[in-house]
Amino acid sequence: MSNLQRLVYSSRATFAQVQDDSGINREVARILMQSRRNNPRQGLVGALYFGDGNFFQCLEGEAEALDEVCERIRQDSRHTGMKVLGRHPIKSRSFSVWAMKFVPNAMQVQILLVSRGLTRFEPEKFDESTISAMLTLLRQGADADLLQVDASGNRRSGNRLPEPVAATASGHSGRTAMLFGAAALVVIACIAWLVLGG
Ligand SMILES: Cc1cc2nc3c(=O)[nH]c(=O)nc-3n(C[C@H](O)[C@H](O)[C@H](O)COP(=O)(O)O)c2cc1C
Repeated sequence: MSNLQRLVYSSRATFAQVQDDSGINREVARILMQSRRNNPRQGLVGALYFGDGNFFQCLEGEAEALDEVCERIRQDSRHTGMKVLGRHPIKSRSFSVWAMKFVPNAMQVQILLVSRGLTRFEPEKFDESTISAMLTLLRQGADADLLQVDASGNRRSGNRLPEPVAATASGHSGRTAMLFGAAALVVIACIAWLVLGG
């Protein structure tokens, strides 16, 4: 008989908050790679959010599989202070296509924090309604599809960057090209004015 459950927990990272050029912490990238490799084998799905050095993870699957992965995660030295925020029976998985969805540091989460009078992402302090709002955001948020990382955490070539970073990068280069073009036109106009005896 099926015994599907949803488990939500928070914890604090023990590693340094250094981001790589995609804006994602290398250690978080490794965790995601492991999750995406392991979770499908156990019929587990879920989502992970990392902000202000704190993890918020939701895992859905059979109770036994949840117990097993939870124990493994608890023993992981990359985080500490694991606090179960909720564990409830569910009828079906709500992250069904995601072995482990990763939502990059989202503006909506910042807005949620402000609306609750919070200044930092500290999920261990969240009340029921904030946890539920956070889960809704994770379901809606776009996944950062960056995780073709090798075992030592290096991104392999040809990986897609997370959408917001890619969009920002192309936006910047477009704007820079326009500025250079405008500056070049001004310089050419000045030279022409000087040469033509203005
Ligand atoms: C915050 C956090 C979340 C994690 N989530 C998962 C997960 O969903 N699934 C998983 O298999 N491992 C997860 N891990 C990694 C496990 O702790 C463990 O390192 C990994 O499962 C070992 O797998 P491996 O022997 O295949 O490398 C997580 C670790 C941390 C710190």
